Amino acid sequence: MNVNDKTVLLTGASGGIGQEIARVLAAAGAKLILTGRTSGRLAELKQELPGEGHIAVALDVASDEGVNELASIAEEHAVDILINNAGVNQLATHEHMSSEAISRMMTVNLCAPMILCSRLIPVLMQRPEALIVNVGSIMGSIGMAGSATYCASKFGLRGFTESLRRELADSNIRVVYFAPRMTSTSINSEQMMAMNQALGTAMDNPGEVANQLLSVISKSNCTEQYLGWPEKLFVRINAVLPGVVDRALKKQLPTVLSYAR
Ligand SMILES: NC(=O)c1ccc[n+]([C@@H]2O[C@H](COP(=O)([O-])OP(=O)(O)OC[C@H]3O[C@@H](n4cnc5c(N)ncnc54)[C@H](OP(=O)(O)O)[C@@H]3O)[C@@H](O)[C@H]2O)c1
Repeated sequence: MNVNDKTVLLTGASGGIGQEIARVLAAAGAKLILTGRTSGRLAELKQELPGEGHIAVALDVASDEGVNELASIAEEHAVDILINNAGVNQLATHEHMSSEAISRMMTVNLCAPMILCSRLIPVLMQRPEALIVNVGSIMGSIGMAGSATYCASKFGLRGFTESLRRELADSNIRVVYFAPRMTSTSINSEQMMAMNQALGTAMDNPGEVANQLLSVISKSNCTEQYLGWPEKLFVRINAVLPGVVDRALKKQLPTVLSYAR
């Protein structure tokens, strides 16, 4: 799909990856509906973007009001592309996750994208060509210690996206699962950054991630993209030989626990 003149509803636009996605898409001629919770950052971003007609709306995607507002904005502005990018994470062993933190993470990372898809499909069906991109993670394919809830939310998002893609296979809506690896943004706490450094985990910058997303959008037959090498190989090994990955990750466990406890 060529994004020029397309209207894009982007959640998580005030975050590290979201801001870069907005910049890349606006530079390619898209009109952006920028959403997040931090109105100041959204307003600055809107001001800075090339092109006309961008909109910034501060709301909580985890609330019914937020979803209702997004659904009516999408209808009013005839959205062509929905990018479910808002997300939260927390490094902690599972017994240290509060029930509120678990519910919140599942709501923002999984339930909100699912609800937004269901509300926006009728709008997207009106467009000649439409697209849904769900931003997952490599951790949506490989379960990691210290991130059980986050992994559960992204595994769920991957399964949801695959099902929806098959359900909409004979429609005008293409459905894409886009899975970055570790990226330097504020979703990763200082603790998480320090752990990644100790483990030697590779880290992308959000600009690279956004460019990859534009490339995925432009390829009409692309429905899934995992970023990073060797991460995309580990995804395949974990699917067929999870015991190999269990043994490799067990070696990292003492380091992970020293940061996650
Ligand atoms: N960074 C990584 O290492 C990495 C790796 C793989 C996948 N991802 C995925 O990439 C996506 C973007 O993450 P990021 O790295 O850009 O993180 P980020 O910088 O922390 O940005 C997260 C965005 O989500 C928004 N958000 C969170 N909760 C929200 C809520 N209840 N309502 C509305 N907006 C909400 C935030 O808005 P406010 O800040 O305005 O609250 C912010 O715009 C996420 O889905 C994440 O899981 C990230």
